[in-house]
Amino acid sequence: MKRLEGKSALITGSARGIGRAFAKAYIREGATVAIADINLERARQTAEELGHQAYAVKLDVTLQASIEAAVAEVVSKTGKLDILINNAALFDMAPITDISRDSYDRLFSINVGGTLFTLQAAARQMILQGHGGKIINMASQAGRRGEALVGVYCATKAAVISLTQSAGLNLIPHKINVNAIAPGVIDGEHWDGVDALFAKYENRPVGEKKRLVGLEVPYGRMGTAEDLTGMAVFLASGESEYVVAQTYNVDGGNWMS
Ligand SMILES: NC(=O)c1ccc[n+]([C@@H]2O[C@H](COP(=O)([O-])OP(=O)(O)OC[C@H]3O[C@@H](n4cnc5c(N)ncnc54)[C@H](O)[C@@H]3O)[C@@H](O)[C@H]2O)c1
Repeated sequence: MKRLEGKSALITGSARGIGRAFAKAYIREGATVAIADINLERARQTAEELGHQAYAVKLDVTLQASIEAAVAEVVSKTGKLDILINNAALFDMAPITDISRDSYDRLFSINVGGTLFTLQAAARQMILQGHGGKIINMASQAGRRGEALVGVYCATKAAVISLTQSAGLNLIPHKINVNAIAPGVIDGEHWDGVDALFAKYENRPVGEKKRLVGLEVPYGRMGTAEDLTGMAVFLASGESEYVVAQTYNVDGGNWMS
């Protein structure tokens, strides 16, 4: 039996990468999925590739009006909102002495503000519907500890773990489960960008950082977006009713708590 049959899901930042893989997995399990992204053209392309259970929605998670319009569009299209994945995020890095105010503001606005206020809009809709819901935030192993060159991104992901705890506790009386996934190193376009930044700041050939982080994973390789889909389906399904305010590492063994 399909585990998300008839469910309506909104996945932010799902035009590519991990969000796209989540959308594909949810569709396989019977859900209808809003491919919500700031890159509408890519979102449309992805929705087309994923078939009739997917549709593209324009969303900038830094703008309150855009968040509210996206939730309204999901409700007008499917009649409800059952599942939200707060997946959109931005990465940047620099030594502490070089971090710019602009980079700090952009990362906190997307990774933390975007997560909080999209979660809030979804929760309001779910409370109105009165049947509970599932909210999954994308944290990271970067949120479990600091990294010398990744101060701001790490701080945003620590904030996502904290918000998951607070929102999880606040919303469970409404039968809304809020949990998070903390991936390790997941290969794809995102990590190509991360690798290029490490090449710049650590004076390495392009591709070397990716190779090294893959070697360090206890499982023996970098993860793929598909390695995360089992957890994302579980946390959206009826099997996770009693799972509240948790952040799960899905990282090939990189982190232990
Ligand atoms: N790839 C990894 O190794 C890794 C590791 C840990 C955590 N994560 C987290 O997983 C999530 C997905 O990562 P990914 O690798 O697929 O990233 P990605 O960069 O490939 O995709 C991010 C998507 O978010 C969209 N986006 C950016 N700003 C937006 C905004 N303001 N509003 C709406 N959409 C916006 C982008 O257009 C893009 O489609 C992120 O939260 C990321 O921090 C990734």
